[in-house]
Amino acid sequence: MLGRALRALPYNEESVEGLLGEDGPAAGLSDVAVYDRRLPDTPLGNATRLLLLQVTIDRDAAIAAFGHDGLDALLTTQLARADGDRIAARGRIVPAEGLLMSFDGFAVGDDDPHGYVASYTPTASWLAALTPRRHFGRALDIGTGSGAQALLASRHSDHVIATDLNPRAVAFTALNAALNGIDNLEVRLGSLFEPVAGETFDLITCNAPYVVSPEDRWQYRDAAGFEADQLSQAVVTQAPAHLNDDGFACMLVSWLAESKDDADARVQTWLDDVPCDAWVISLSGADPLDHAAGWNEHLSVDAEDYGLALDRWTAYFEELGVGWISEGAVLVHKRLGHRHVIRTDWADEEELEYGSDQIERVFKALELIADVDDERDLLATRLALPEETRIELALGEEGARVVLEEGTWPELEIDDELVEILGELDGRATLAEAIGQARVPRRRSTLDDIRELLELGMLELR
Ligand SMILES: C[S@@+](CC[C@H](N)C(=O)[O-])C[C@H]1O[C@@H](n2cnc3c(N)ncnc32)[C@H](O)[C@@H]1O
Repeated sequence: MLGRALRALPYNEESVEGLLGEDGPAAGLSDVAVYDRRLPDTPLGNATRLLLLQVTIDRDAAIAAFGHDGLDALLTTQLARADGDRIAARGRIVPAEGLLMSFDGFAVGDDDPHGYVASYTPTASWLAALTPRRHFGRALDIGTGSGAQALLASRHSDHVIATDLNPRAVAFTALNAALNGIDNLEVRLGSLFEPVAGETFDLITCNAPYVVSPEDRWQYRDAAGFEADQLSQAVVTQAPAHLNDDGFACMLVSWLAESKDDADARVQTWLDDVPCDAWVISLSGADPLDHAAGWNEHLSVDAEDYGLALDRWTAYFEELGVGWISEGAVLVHKRLGHRHVIRTDWADEEELEYGSDQIERVFKALELIADVDDERDLLATRLALPEETRIELALGEEGARVVLEEGTWPELEIDDELVEILGELDGRATLAEAIGQARVPRRRSTLDDIRELLELGMLELR
């Protein structure tokens, strides 16, 4: 009933952007005072005030916005409470990704409870960008929080199971499914894969509580009960057994290293024995002090507390013998009975965009590379440039820069010969024919670059 009332307003990304500008739906606590003053005294303005900004409004204004039934429904969810003639928000409902997502109110740092359920965070949007969006039968979201990944998967899956250790998270997810009229999403309480023992899926997502630290402060952040990066390891190594053949698992995790020089060695060992091709995308790396500073920024207003936290965290890493902490995505594609490939890349988290097509191309390429025995196999393939691949030529300069304008936005510098060859790749000619038509020599380095373009999803196998 509440969802219906909100859709009638309509309370969605476009209407909030219309009132507050492009950044409106992503309002933070520091925006509240300004946005509150900018909003009109209209049903949509007051709904936005209460639900997006967590600002108290009059009961009459709430009735004008949601109707009597809608307000009753809102109070029943306990996302708001009546205080005399005033309606006060206890949580937030935010439009994002074409959905309405409810979660706890604005974070206030150290006072947030252990089971705080976070908003649609940047990390949630990174995982959403790095998930293939083809149609799936059964999908699973581990550590679902407010259900963001599960709600997104419900649009292109027959059935979704969302699990979490935190009963409040599971309740928010069920509420969010109802709020959006989604009826193919089931929630289950429990740790990691325990609630789905013996079950298999076509898609698994997990934005794990991957922050390695000595703390057990927040369930959404700290991997309680797991030492070092063991929760991430458990997710990455256990997911493949819960995948059907041709299934994907997309996980945001972290992995430790003695030093920056061997940053990805450990995550690669987790993938050595799984029946999957894997794409590891490192999104950030830091030494223990920078890592501690980043995750304790909320304490920086108090120099003493902040200093104590930094010392506690860095001592923990010293004891572990860890000098470098990486955070990123591990994507795996299960292919039983084949040789497998692990690819490792770096991407800028700020640049990530929806990359479903790129991911499909990357894994098709990895499949080919895993099976290819020599360069003749590669020369016999038919290739094309996807629409999103742009070739940038600079006047007076040799070579070109190739950029893929989606997903991880990879770039590669190429020489003039390869520019000529790419011009001949129309999806019909084989690579060998295209090289012939371009009248350029067939060099080892050219084939290496073609392989790289393929593996980054900048070329498409036809
Ligand atoms: C970083 S949040 C991710 C929330 C949401 N999936 C998203 O993408 O925004 C991690 C979630 O994992 C849950 N969690 C923590 N430990 C867990 C465990 N052992 N098993 C399952 N879920 C766990 C937390 O309660 C939290 O909801």
